[in-house]
Amino acid sequence: MATAIIYYSKHHGNTKKILDAIAAEHTDVELVDVTSRNTFDLSGYDKIGFASGIYFGKFSEQILNFAKVNLPSGKDVFFIATAGNPMKSNFNAIARITENKNCKEVGRYICKGFDTFGPFRLVGGIRKGHPTEKEIQAAVDFYNSII
Ligand SMILES: Cc1cc2nc3c(=O)[nH]c(=O)nc-3n(C[C@H](O)[C@H](O)[C@H](O)COP(=O)(O)O)c2cc1C
Repeated sequence: MATAIIYYSKHHGNTKKILDAIAAEHTDVELVDVTSRNTFDLSGYDKIGFASGIYFGKFSEQILNFAKVNLPSGKDVFFIATAGNPMKSNFNAIARITENKNCKEVGRYICKGFDTFGPFRLVGGIRKGHPTEKEIQAAVDFYNSII
């Protein structure tokens, strides 16, 4: 049961910390940095994850475009995100794309991530120390629950 997780984690590597913990426990999980490739053959994977920091309320544009171009229809998909201020609506755009491809969502996970964007930089950032060890473990538990 191979899994690929396509990710974008450029602000502080917050989302990548979670993915590294999942990949450390599961050698069949392949992490694909969306900034290093525009195309990727996902046809051979049983489950496909999309993971991103939240940028302007949604997953990064690169993830959204990648999903539009590369996601085969009918796959099981899941979502992982970190955000300065996590909200349910942060998943709307990516979920719409995967729904349009008749993919089945098997789960979603979001937690806080250190954020120094814009005015937050002036106060040393918000959500310092996030994701915490506990949040990272909760993400690993989430992954274990969907496989
Ligand atoms: C340009 C920019 C825009 C952001 N927009 C949002 C936002 O709309 N909502 C939010 O909760 N966090 C926002 N953030 C904070 C990030 O989502 C948060 O720091 C996240 O953990 C970054 O993940 P990464 O380090 O994996 O890239 C923004 C950060 C940046 C740099």
